[in-house]
Amino acid sequence: MIGNFEYSNPTKLYFGKDALSNLSFELSKYGDKVLLCYGGGSIKKNGIYDQVITILKDCGKTVIEDAKVMPNPTVEKLYEGCKLAFDNKIDLILAVGGGSVCDYAKAVSVSAYCKTDPWEKYYLKMEDVDNKIIPVGCVLTMVGTGSEMNGGAVITNHEQKLKIGHVFGDNVFPKFAILNPEFTYTVPKYQMVAGIYDIFNHITEQYFSGDDDNTSDYIAEGLMRSLIHSSKIAVQNSNDYEARSNIMWTSTWALNTLISKGKSTDWMVHMIGQAIGAYTDATHGMTLSAVSIPYYRFICPYGLQKFKRYAINVWDVNPNHKTDEEVALEGLKCMEQWMKDIGLVMNIFELGVEEQMINDIAKSCFILDGGYKKLSNDDIVEILKKALN
Ligand code: NZQ
Ligand code: ZN
Repeated sequence: MIGNFEYSNPTKLYFGKDALSNLSFELSKYGDKVLLCYGGGSIKKNGIYDQVITILKDCGKTVIEDAKVMPNPTVEKLYEGCKLAFDNKIDLILAVGGGSVCDYAKAVSVSAYCKTDPWEKYYLKMEDVDNKIIPVGCVLTMVGTGSEMNGGAVITNHEQKLKIGHVFGDNVFPKFAILNPEFTYTVPKYQMVAGIYDIFNHITEQYFSGDDDNTSDYIAEGLMRSLIHSSKIAVQNSNDYEARSNIMWTSTWALNTLISKGKSTDWMVHMIGQAIGAYTDATHGMTLSAVSIPYYRFICPYGLQKFKRYAINVWDVNPNHKTDEEVALEGLKCMEQWMKDIGLVMNIFELGVEEQMINDIAKSCFILDGGYKKLSNDDIVEILKKALN
């Protein structure tokens, strides 16, 4: 491990079938006014809304509802939430939903008291928070993003064709998160597998970088093996508690800052995926799966030894009598087969991208340089063309 780092994670997690019973204790730490954020209505159909409302009422809270947080929350919705939170002098924001609702809650928490335009401040200028932050708690209903235990808050601006994530510090992490794997049983299969790939890609984004011997990489390999194993069970039987609970826990660890410690990270699949998301509003995990194989084939020669290690340690490729390149490519083939088997979208055409959009998507893509190769605009165009079908 080469890098210096600080590590702390202030989010208190409650995990398991009885996790929600801890909500009243957490609520007792905050004032009366709770902004209850949720999505398009899934929590009303599966009964989670009723359970949460009963606890809020029993605790004597005044609940202000902020519903219809859309997947890939928009800047317009953020402005609405800020007004609600500010006007009602909210004491706690309770997010009940997936990554979109949790991200949105965090974005509102730092923006409600922001004196300037939060989109410009946090997303275009990437400035830090210097105003009051409203505490956030999460009841997670869909897994993938890790938003329940991190400072990420991704917002989409359709007018500017930009989807940008600000990773806030640990003062913005949720104060608590309630994780009951059974709450995820009703997630549609498309969303479930998109979430599974989001988790996987969070791990690979942090794994494919650097050439030092890093503890984080060994943890990453274990997480990937667990996820591959449980994903195969969950696609067969979505109510398998053991598999769903392992996926939920892996999801949290994949992006709660631990496995990035002491090393550089890549994140270019996410940058390309987010640019596609800004143009198509497609499901986040599918924007990642659709470009991953062309991206990893493209950078494989620049990080050959790591791709070889990945093939052997994650996919059990036998390296005997093969060149390094053959081993590495066999690993990517195994990954591609697994992705197809669990039902991921493997091309961007299916997400609504057409050839004439590719140059614009590439132009709006942020380029980072923590991976094995800093991409040029032409490289991104080439990868997107390969991902087209
Ligand atoms: O809106 P409702 O009706 O609740 O339906 C949602 C939504 O349509 C549904 N859903 C959630 N829980 C359900 C359920 N349906 C039935 N039963 C349940 N229990 O699932 C759909 C998708 O939900 P969403 O929250 O959008 O999914 P996800 O968790 O994948 O979040 C995606 C957002 O998170 C951002 C993405 O960019 C995207 O905006 N990300 C956040 C990150 C972070 N905070 O660190 C990192 C990620 O890389 C990602 O960028
Ligand atoms: Zn992601």
